[in-house]
Amino acid sequence: MKILTNFSLKKFNSFNINAIADNYVSVESLEDLTKALNLKEYKEKYILGGGSNLLITKDIKGLVIHININGIHQEVKSNNVTEVVAYAGENWHSLVLWCLKKGLGGIENLSLIPGSVGAAPIQNIGAYGVELKDVFISCDVINKETREIKTFDKKACEFGYRTSFFKKNNGYIIISIKLKLTHKEHNLNTSYKGIQEELSNLNIKQPTIYDISNAVINIRKEKLPDPKKIGNSGSFFKNPIVSKNKIEELKSNFKSIPFYTVDKNNYKIPAAWLIEKAGFKAKTYGDYGVHKDQALVLVNYKSARGSDILNLSISIQKAVKLIFNIDLEAEVNII
Ligand code: EPU
Repeated sequence: MKILTNFSLKKFNSFNINAIADNYVSVESLEDLTKALNLKEYKEKYILGGGSNLLITKDIKGLVIHININGIHQEVKSNNVTEVVAYAGENWHSLVLWCLKKGLGGIENLSLIPGSVGAAPIQNIGAYGVELKDVFISCDVINKETREIKTFDKKACEFGYRTSFFKKNNGYIIISIKLKLTHKEHNLNTSYKGIQEELSNLNIKQPTIYDISNAVINIRKEKLPDPKKIGNSGSFFKNPIVSKNKIEELKSNFKSIPFYTVDKNNYKIPAAWLIEKAGFKAKTYGDYGVHKDQALVLVNYKSARGSDILNLSISIQKAVKLIFNIDLEAEVNII
């Protein structure tokens, strides 16, 4: 375990922001993680996972602990059910591919989501009709203060739309997650319109988990910029949820407003639509801007600072508030 000083985090955040950590350590085992947490000389400690849901707006004092604890294993439970345990440092998409290779279904809709396994429960990652919580059994976590290791079951994780217990309480570090996956394909989710269109483009009538994964990969590649080429962190904001009264008012003022019913009194509006209507889609300000194909994605084309992107996000929030009287909430973690 080697502590590096004045370390650039550019390669470790998908926005490619060149923020400097005073001290940085990569931990590859639970033992190293505990050792790093015990280092008393660093008052402030910051835990870094895959860095794909993160906007760094300043250099970081103290110690950055980069979680690189790897490993995936499976336990066959029955003819149709296999439990998979994956460690926090694994890349999420690599886990999806590992499962597909073993013929395990359940997370194919979550193909190509950037980031690490350890970050997945924090915001209950979701895409194309599926969320992590749909296959989640439990996760093992370590308490940053007491170093106690605890298992959180699904209920204790308090999953919601892009949120969880861990999003609200940052006293824990996720070490591993356990998922319940299936061998047979009865649980395919093709409800998302884009998937149906892509499958019909590919002329596939009876899709398998591999077809769904390929369809999702195609859609994502078409709409979302590849963070290896253009710095970004996926959706910057959450899709806002509004009341019945509010949706009625919006419908009368903006005839074409898209929305989805969450329940009797709650409606979800695509933030991308609000941002596009506010005139920000494809806007470029030097090194950074709003993506041309998905208005929910803010991008760093070259060497923007985190504060530039943060200021852009604030301008977007103000414009959306002024036009629609809706508060957009950031989905990414801002430090
Ligand atoms: N739209 C626009 N302008 C745009 C893009 C979209 O008006 O530039 C409108 C269209 O009406 C479109 C609707 O927004 O039908 C929905 O767009 P899309 O299907 O691309 O999904 P989204 O709601 O913008 C959410 C997730 C994505 C996830 C997709 C697919 C959130 C915050 N984002 O985006 O997640 O991949 O659905 O399920 O819930 C992420 O979290 O990083 C992420 C990419």
